[in-house]
Amino acid sequence: MPWFFLVGFMGAGKTTLGSNVAERLALPFYDLDERIELDAGLGVREIFDAQGEKDFRHRETNVLRKIVAAEPPGVIATGGGTFTLEENRTIMSEAGVSVWLDVPIDTIVTRVASMDVAERPLWRSEAEVRALAERRKKDYRLANHHLELGTDSTDDGTVRLYELLAPYRSD
Ligand code: S3P
Repeated sequence: MPWFFLVGFMGAGKTTLGSNVAERLALPFYDLDERIELDAGLGVREIFDAQGEKDFRHRETNVLRKIVAAEPPGVIATGGGTFTLEENRTIMSEAGVSVWLDVPIDTIVTRVASMDVAERPLWRSEAEVRALAERRKKDYRLANHHLELGTDSTDDGTVRLYELLAPYRSD
């Protein structure tokens, strides 16, 4: 059974759709940010503030590698920056299938503004966020699948993701 990695920008719905689809597929669900926090005993924001982004990225790669090596295969919601590092992309391509959840940046900006911005250290000015999203597209395009979510509701997005992943199930 391959691992399923959900990649894409902050606020694309990786955690929400990931946990929904894992339930439908009867597979375990893992949230990479949450695992990094548990491992560090610190929040994502605290790691960035106290140790910097480089330390966060180092932890991110280590935790990703550990989960894939030691836990039963399932669905992983990665962080928005995870797929931008080649080392992480190699771990993911060797272990399974990656899906880019591609949500228009206008939708993301509106969505995240009403969510928990405080927990997202890289959520700065709107202009910076838009520029970062643009720069990262070249990496997200390297995912095995590109799921354009447009204005899909959570339910519709879950169904579309399920239909994409279900054929990989080996049982
Ligand atoms: C980041 C996204 C965050 C988290 C960290 C860095 C990024 O995850 O990993 O704040 O580089 O885009 P979400 O995509 O779950 O917000």
